[in-house]
Amino acid sequence: MPAPLTEIEDLRRLHQARVPRMFYDYVDAGAWTGQTYRENQTDFSRLYLRQRVARDISKRNLPTTMMGREVAMPVALAPVGLLGMQHADGEIHAARAALSRNVPYTMSTMSIASLEDIAEATGKPFWFQLYTLRDEAFLESILDRARRAGVELLVLTLDLTIQGQRHKDLKNRMTAPPKLTAANLLNISRHPAWAMRMLRTRRRSFGNIVGHAKGVNDLGDLAAWTSSQFDPTLDWARVEHIVRLWGGKVLLKGINDPEDARRAAQTGADGLIVSNHGGRQLDGTPSTIRTLPQILRALDGAMPAYLDGGIRSGQDVIKAMAVGAAGVFIGRAYAYGLGAMGQRGVEAALDIIKREMDLTMGLCGINDVSEIGPQILWSEDLA
Ligand code: FNR
Repeated sequence: MPAPLTEIEDLRRLHQARVPRMFYDYVDAGAWTGQTYRENQTDFSRLYLRQRVARDISKRNLPTTMMGREVAMPVALAPVGLLGMQHADGEIHAARAALSRNVPYTMSTMSIASLEDIAEATGKPFWFQLYTLRDEAFLESILDRARRAGVELLVLTLDLTIQGQRHKDLKNRMTAPPKLTAANLLNISRHPAWAMRMLRTRRRSFGNIVGHAKGVNDLGDLAAWTSSQFDPTLDWARVEHIVRLWGGKVLLKGINDPEDARRAAQTGADGLIVSNHGGRQLDGTPSTIRTLPQILRALDGAMPAYLDGGIRSGQDVIKAMAVGAAGVFIGRAYAYGLGAMGQRGVEAALDIIKREMDLTMGLCGINDVSEIGPQILWSEDLA
């Protein structure tokens, strides 16, 4: 019998074993040297927790709200592109897992499944991440489709108008779906279960874009469209325009600097996600757990700040919240689970993090997520 899955690292290993290398690498990699990617994780170990005793920790409670929505714990699934390449119908698996564990699922613009697929598969409100595209007609139409599909919150990503470089993706000649070269076929042949599922699904296209954007009728048209649409002219006026166009709740994602945070608070958005895109964009920028205190000071309570980047355990969630994050988003932690085992793997990732949060709260001597605060962090001048 295989050993039980007890930590996110178990899911990462399974993902690596079960999914063709180019797609595993696509999830796992950071940009350039990987410094920011690594420090997103390792900087959590610079924070120490206070272990407290004899405080009646018998009634521990994780449910809370995120952006007005009741959730089982303050952890949402971050937008991750190409989930449908990690596992056939990956976005649907992730959305169903989020629903079964009562946490928000954020669908990426760059998904294989479409907004309508998620609406049909879950029948429940979900969150949608939008890149700031140039084509105004497409922008309006995708926001309309999102409203009709039941999207209750828009995550507007600001840190990818040009793409950071990931060596592995370039060396693997990563494309979705993979080109049928001899090297790819050899690699795919080592993952027959993945390939069989992929052959059986009809969802192999970018369902939010192909057949909807002007001139994009098949995958062949997509690469040129994508590079023409990601918008390096993006400025704050355009951000404000998109926030108004949506008219509902918005989180601005990809803020990792206090001055940007201060400006973001004036856009009409409802909150932000402190993020460096999981270390996939500007390598050498500080980890998010490191920038969070300065960003919170700059915001001065103007809006809630969520955090993503490097969360691999419940302790990481608790530390981020102790510093002042309103909650967190996880990316790779659940993408590993999806590659490993589809919906069950995403559920396993959420269960692992929840159990770790619960135990960590208890060992810190608190019973409720609302009690998480700086008082549970060790500081050398406590004396
Ligand atoms: C991402 N991320 C991302 N963000 C976004 O706004 N739109 C997207 O399509 C994607 N795509 C994407 C693909 C992959 C494979 C990864 C790993 C990440 C970034 C994501 O939302 C989040 O910011 C990071 O994943 C957080 O870091 P961790 O949790 O992966 O360490």
